[in-house]
Amino acid sequence: MKYAYLAFEDYENELESEIKFKKIKLTTQMGRLFFSDEWATFHWAQLSLKNFKKVNFKSINDAIKILKAENLYWGAYSYQLHRRTELIQNGLQNRKISEIPFLAKPTNRNYGFWFLLDSNTLLYSAKTDSSHPLGFVRIKEALQGPPSRAYQKLYEALTVHTEPPAAGTQVLDLGSCPGGWTWVLHELGCQVISVDKAPLDDSLNDKKRITYLKKDAFKLDPLSIENPEWLFSDIICEPEALLELVLKWQKAYPKLKFLCTIKYKGPTDFKTTDIFAKIPGSKLIHLCCNKHEMTWIKN
Ligand SMILES: C[S@@+](CC[C@H](N)C(=O)[O-])C[C@H]1O[C@@H](n2cnc3c(N)ncnc32)[C@H](O)[C@@H]1O
Repeated sequence: MKYAYLAFEDYENELESEIKFKKIKLTTQMGRLFFSDEWATFHWAQLSLKNFKKVNFKSINDAIKILKAENLYWGAYSYQLHRRTELIQNGLQNRKISEIPFLAKPTNRNYGFWFLLDSNTLLYSAKTDSSHPLGFVRIKEALQGPPSRAYQKLYEALTVHTEPPAAGTQVLDLGSCPGGWTWVLHELGCQVISVDKAPLDDSLNDKKRITYLKKDAFKLDPLSIENPEWLFSDIICEPEALLELVLKWQKAYPKLKFLCTIKYKGPTDFKTTDIFAKIPGSKLIHLCCNKHEMTWIKN
C-alpha cells in the first residue's frame, strides 16, 4: 500500500479508465480508493496519498489519540464501518467544516487522511497535499443574482485555482447563456464580451459592462476583439473542437489567459485531454463541482 488515489464520488470509472490510459498498475481497490505502487497525476482523483501508516487501536478514544498526535486536521473516508468512522471523526473535529467564501484567501492548514481498514485498524496518511478535508472544497453560494448554477464552477476555480481577472480588464465568455459566468465576471468589474447563439437571461440586459454577441463562438474572429485579457469558455462541444479554438486564440494573442470547461458527451476523451494537460504553463483540474467535464486553466 504505497500510494492511493481517491476518486471523486460517482467518477470511480473515470479514475479507473485514466489509470489504464496512463498504463499504471493497480494493486487493490477499496471503494473509491485505488492503491498502486506507482506515483502519478490523475485528474479524476480528488486526493492523492502517500506515506501511509497502519496502526492497530483498542478503542475509539485510542484511535482519536493516535490521530491527534499526528495532525490537527483530518478528513475521513467512510469506506466501511460508517458509525465507528463517524464517532472517531467527531472526536477529532471540534467544529463542523463550513463552506468557504468566494475569493477567500487560502489557509495553511494541511489535512491528514484516514480510514478504517477493519474495526481496530487505522490506515492513515498524516499529511496530504490539500488544505481541504479529503481534497474537497465547497464555495458559499451566491444568495441572489446568478441566472444559472454554472457560476459555481467559476466561484471554485477563481477561489482555489487561479487569481481572478482584475476589474476593468476585457474578458470573453464563450458559450455564456444563460449567463452565470458572465454574471460572476461582471460582478468582478470586468468588461465582458458574452458570446452565445442563445440569449442571455433578461436580468443581465441592462448591465453596461456586458456586451452580448449573438454568434457562433467558433466563427468569432480573434482580430475582431481588441486585446482580450482572458478567454472563458463553457461551450458544449467536443474536446477537439475546443482545442482547435484555444490554439486559434492563443496564436492571435500569445499572452491570453484561459479558463475553459472540457466537456465529454460520451466516454472521456483522454487523448485530447492529455494534449490540453501538456500545454506549457497550464493546469487541468476536475473541480469539485465539475460533473463529467474538466477545467483547463492557463494564466
Ligand atoms: C453549459 S451552457 C453555458 C452555461 C454558462 N456558462 C452559464 O454560466 O450560464 C453551454 C452553452 O454553450 C452554448 N453553445 C453551444 N455551441 C455554441 C457555439 N457554437 N457558439 C456559441 N455558444 C454555443 C449553448 O448555447 C449553451 O448556452
